[in-house]
Amino acid sequence: MILYVNSCIRKPSRTDELARELLSKLEGDITEIKLTEMHLKSISNERLDKRTELVKEGKFDDPIFDLARQFAEADIIVISAPYWDFSFPAKLKLYMENVFVMGIVSKYSEHGAPVGLCKAKKLYYVTTSGGPYIPDYSFDYITTLAKQVFGIPETQLIKAEMLDVVGYNPDRIMAKAKASIEI
Ligand SMILES: Cc1cc2nc3c(=O)[nH]c(=O)nc-3n(C[C@H](O)[C@H](O)[C@H](O)COP(=O)(O)O)c2cc1C
Repeated sequence: MILYVNSCIRKPSRTDELARELLSKLEGDITEIKLTEMHLKSISNERLDKRTELVKEGKFDDPIFDLARQFAEADIIVISAPYWDFSFPAKLKLYMENVFVMGIVSKYSEHGAPVGLCKAKKLYYVTTSGGPYIPDYSFDYITTLAKQVFGIPETQLIKAEMLDVVGYNPDRIMAKAKASIEI
């Protein structure tokens, strides 16, 4: 199963457009989740207590863990996120908070190091930016989570940048980015 985590906000979204080009090249069933249409809850004190208790009891089938289980079971993960404020929309951070559950996506080894439990062999991160794209707080952050915690060995960035800069041709940049996608 290919899990498409769509965190694009604008309609229409150029980032979503680029991600769909990638998806058309991948083989397999696609499950899409649109973060804008989900009522993702942030982790309150009560929610954290509940989560901790459920993890302690090994009750990983609780609906509170649905997103984490879905993420752990995907074969390929595609995340689309526009470049916002040097990072990505807050909804994606909220999603990661819901996904990052020890015991489902990762566990600690006896030496205290995280051991990934996710099935996916590859995660694609698709983004577009108005100016130059700097990956530090978006793609690099997601890569750190994927490789160091979730056990996903490979990540790939697919991007189109400089789309809002006067003198640059966004249609041409998008067409070039789509044509250069290699999976
Ligand atoms: C709230 C917001 C924050 C943004 N922050 C940045 C930024 O930090 N750097 C940048 O180059 N472009 C920034 N942009 C421009 C978008 O990255 C760019 O227009 C992108 O292509 C939008 O993707 P979309 O069509 O999928 O919404 C921002 C746009 C918005 C709406």
